[in-house]
Amino acid sequence: HMHGGVTVIVFGASGDLAKKKTFPALYRLFKNARLPVSTKIIGYARSHLEDQAFHEKVVGYLGKDEDPKTVQDFFSLCSYVSGKYDEDDSFINLDNFITASEDSRNMQDNQRNRLFYMALPPSVFLDVARGCSKHLVKKDTASLYPIIIEKPFGKSLPTCNQLLKDMSGLFQESDTYRIDHYLGKEMVKNIMTVRFANVLLSPLWNNQHISSVQITFKENFGTEGRGGYFDEFGIIRDVMQNHLLQVLSLLAMERPIGRDGEAIRDEKVKLLRCVKPITLEDTLVGQYVGNNSGKPGYQDDDTVPKGSRCPTFALTTLWIDNERWDGVPFIMKAGKAMERSKVEVRVQFKKVPGSLFGGVSRNELVLRIQPNEAIYLKFNNKRPGLSSETLLTDLDLTYQERYENMRIPEAYESLILDVLKGDHSNFVRDDELQAAWTIFDGMLNGLEEQEVVPKPYTYGSRGPAEESAFLQRLGVVRQNPGYTWPKQDID
Ligand code: BG6
Repeated sequence: HMHGGVTVIVFGASGDLAKKKTFPALYRLFKNARLPVSTKIIGYARSHLEDQAFHEKVVGYLGKDEDPKTVQDFFSLCSYVSGKYDEDDSFINLDNFITASEDSRNMQDNQRNRLFYMALPPSVFLDVARGCSKHLVKKDTASLYPIIIEKPFGKSLPTCNQLLKDMSGLFQESDTYRIDHYLGKEMVKNIMTVRFANVLLSPLWNNQHISSVQITFKENFGTEGRGGYFDEFGIIRDVMQNHLLQVLSLLAMERPIGRDGEAIRDEKVKLLRCVKPITLEDTLVGQYVGNNSGKPGYQDDDTVPKGSRCPTFALTTLWIDNERWDGVPFIMKAGKAMERSKVEVRVQFKKVPGSLFGGVSRNELVLRIQPNEAIYLKFNNKRPGLSSETLLTDLDLTYQERYENMRIPEAYESLILDVLKGDHSNFVRDDELQAAWTIFDGMLNGLEEQEVVPKPYTYGSRGPAEESAFLQRLGVVRQNPGYTWPKQDID
């Protein structure tokens, strides 16, 4: 795709995202020989920094045991340029810098590919996109100019539509890669394989056999330090409308006609358009308060306005109005400052019919996204020996045990590689984004208009007390309190 080489320009290079995610991912691609030949990386930001000072900012995020020679070689590909985000001269200067670098690499005219990585806050994002389009994209060549952008993609349907409109005048959809980093996670990428490469699951994957699907995201830390940012968005926009909805799409969509980006995203959009707008009745919101071992409440953060009604926890139900899923609740749960960190999908099957094995547990298929990737199926088995008792156990595929010497790449690593290959399948398409906001918009407005006060829960707890009644109402069965998946705590 980018055979002639590429210049990667990271805007917002001195920000957190670039330091913690973008540069380390580029470094690991370099280390694993995945960058095209003749790649150069330019960090661009407003602050004045020397190359050396910039390297020092980034190096702390590369990992502790890296070989110094490899790190040195990586930094020999990187330079830093400072300039304004909204000024022609700055972009002309940047263009000259890139061109000089392309000349020094003897790049051919039609292979001077430039990849724009926008690690920027929304306030400056459009200015930079304009600057790139005006000064850095050469209209009359066959060189490629992909652009990577990061959320937030608006904060409502109208603001998302506006953003899409503004951007469409600058970059084509086929050059645009909207990151949802959950799509770069190993187990999320595995959902299609599990579903469509295992014939035994296909006949069960519908409302005849599945009673509910839960998609759960928990973090055992609060919004400490980024409360100001978070307060504008809340957990529903921060995690559910994007990351968890992507997981839902992959779980629920029909089999795509191919594995290319358009085929997959066509199916996702079709599915999302079948999801009914979420109602307030189906939604429970919470906000954490301090606990008695000194962990602060959400509103104890100085950057959070007092009396904020911003949810740091939410549980909501999505109903898919199609033949496959009619009547099956897809329950999303996301919370900060919970009792543990984990992200998983739990597919609960219907009760075993008849009374031959009266009262046995239901089957559940669990996809553990993080930490510790695993798939396990809760499974009824006869107690071994002179007993005919039925015991709940599991068929277990824990990656750490199953795959020796595996290296699971960071989400960003795999996503940047996709962009270098021109593969859109793990990025969010414009119509997909609109369909996603359409599902959440009414509920988000409702929370604001009705001034819904989130239920308090203690930092480090399992969330608001109201949760279990809520789940019961949806027919989710908590079963076999004696059973826990034995790998639960290998973190
Ligand atoms: C980000 C959210 O998109 O995802 C954060 O803004 C959240 O609030 C993060 O912590 C979770 O990502 P991960 O990869 O740590 O699960």
